Amino acid sequence: MKEDNKQRLKTGEKLMFIVAGAFVILASIAFAVMQYLMFTRDEPLFEQKTHYDLSAEGQKGSLIFREAACTECHRAMRGGTNMGNNLDGTGSKRTLQWIEDFLADPEPVYGHETMDHGPKPKQAFYVAEMSEQERHLMAVYLSQLISEQGSASSPVPPKGESPFIDAMVNTWAPDAWKEKYKDIRDKDSEATGER
Ligand code: HEC
Repeated sequence: MKEDNKQRLKTGEKLMFIVAGAFVILASIAFAVMQYLMFTRDEPLFEQKTHYDLSAEGQKGSLIFREAACTECHRAMRGGTNMGNNLDGTGSKRTLQWIEDFLADPEPVYGHETMDHGPKPKQAFYVAEMSEQERHLMAVYLSQLISEQGSASSPVPPKGESPFIDAMVNTWAPDAWKEKYKDIRDKDSEATGER
């Protein structure tokens, strides 16, 4: 009989193929649904929570930022890659002076070893070698990228009740902290716009 020469799959192997196949099918369906929603909805699928309002200097800086290939590693204003960190919202997190200092001499500003910024042979070594004027303009540009409260790049979580955050705080924060520290969500939400 022909059948007998064939290698049959063991039950475990069959199961593995079925599970892996189901994952692929589910992922494809989820992807198709996302694409469909993205193209048919009037509103964006995800709320835009970062914004920018560039001054003339900031605009010059944004040009230099792109020409200097910072976008090979960074993302800003919806352009670039995700290799390094996303710089949208930098202005809500860092001061202009901090950014200028970081670009000129990264490690002391970070306070620990950096991955890409810093002296040769680090890949982004060239940033510290650009002119002071160019670094200044890029820093102005980055300081004008603002994130709203609750955005992934904002230091402050979303406004209002969040059962998830409440549960995490209740589970993990020692009781003593509740008296010692103020919940950042209770502060005036305007705080996010500050430096
Ligand atoms: C080779 C990849 C790479 C390139 C190119 C690069 N960066 Fe970075 N950047 C990083 C990484 C990674 C970090 C995190 C710090 C580190 O480990 O070096 C960072 C951190 C930063 C930060 C600090 C962000 C923060 O808030 O902590 C700024 C600002 C920045 N980069 C600006 C720039 C600018 C401006 C350029 C272009 C002139 C540039 N980067 C080019 C990879 C890169």
